[in-house]
Formats: sequence, C-alpha cells, structure tokens
Amino acid sequence: SGPFRAKPAYGTTVEVTVYLAPDAGGRGIGTLLYKALFEALAGEDVHRALAGIVTPNEASVRLHERFGFRYVGTYREVGRKFGRYWDVAWYEKDL
Ligand SMILES: CC(C)(COP(=O)(O)OP(=O)(O)OC[C@H]1O[C@@H](n2cnc3c(N)ncnc32)[C@H](O)[C@@H]1OP(=O)(O)O)[C@@H](O)C(=O)NCCC(=O)NCCS
Repeated sequence: SGPFRAKPAYGTTVEVTVYLAPDAGGRGIGTLLYKALFEALAGEDVHRALAGIVTPNEASVRLHERFGFRYVGTYREVGRKFGRYWDVAWYEKDL
C-alpha cells in the first residue's frame, strides 16, 4: 500500500496493489498477501483503500471483491503500456 495522493487531505486514503510472479497465480498467494496487508493496515490511521485494475483482469477483480472492494467507476485510457492505452477500473474498500 502507498499514499493515494500527496495532498494532506488524502492522508487517510491508501492505494493498494499486489503482484505475483507469472507462474505463482491461482494458488491462494494473492489472498494470503492481501490478508496480511489488511491486518497490518488495521493498526494504522487509514479510512479508505482504493485499487485500480487494468481491465480485463478476472483474477484481480475476484481477489478485490473477496476482500470487500466495491466497483466505483472506470477511467478510460488513462494507462499506456505494450504500445496502447488501457482503461482502469477503480474499486474502493472501507477500512
Ligand atoms: C491478481 C493476482 C494478485 C491474484 O492472486 P492469486 O494468488 O492468483 O489469487 P488467489 O489464488 O488468492 O485467488 C483469488 C481469486 O481470484 C481467482 N483467480 C485466481 N486466478 C484466476 C485466473 N487466472 N482467472 C480467473 N480467476 C482467478 C480465484 O478463483 C479467487 O476467486 P474467488 O475469491 O472468487 O474464489 C495474481 O493473479 C497476479 O499477480 N496477477 C498479475 C498481476 C496483477 O494483475 N495484479 C493486480 C493488479 S490490479
């Protein structure tokens, strides 16, 4: 997790993400990592977690929904990689 934005007013909001090696998916490791992360955040002065998911990414959507994230909306073509623009779907979770 890291700061959502630098401005002080956003100081109790964090952006979270998790990345596994390509051959490590589908074995519950993402779930274990997020469980540990949210246990650690429980002791911090934070109020909201946000996650941006480049779509489509079914594994990430399911992982975030498992942890109580709700879909907020999609920013269109705000990311660029692999030579093209990508939409990013944003999810939020109460902490
Ligand atoms: C997204 C990611 C972290 C998920 O971690 P994981 O260890 O594979 O996930 P888990 O095994 O803990 O499973 C979590 C959920 O995702 C589902 N899932 C896992 N791999 C999947 C796949 N390849 N396709 C569809 N669903 C999948 C599981 O069934 C489970 O769903 P459920 O809660 O409805 O049962 C991992 O796939 C990853 O690192 N992907 C590449 C990087 C990435 O996209 N990171 C997220 C950026 S927003």
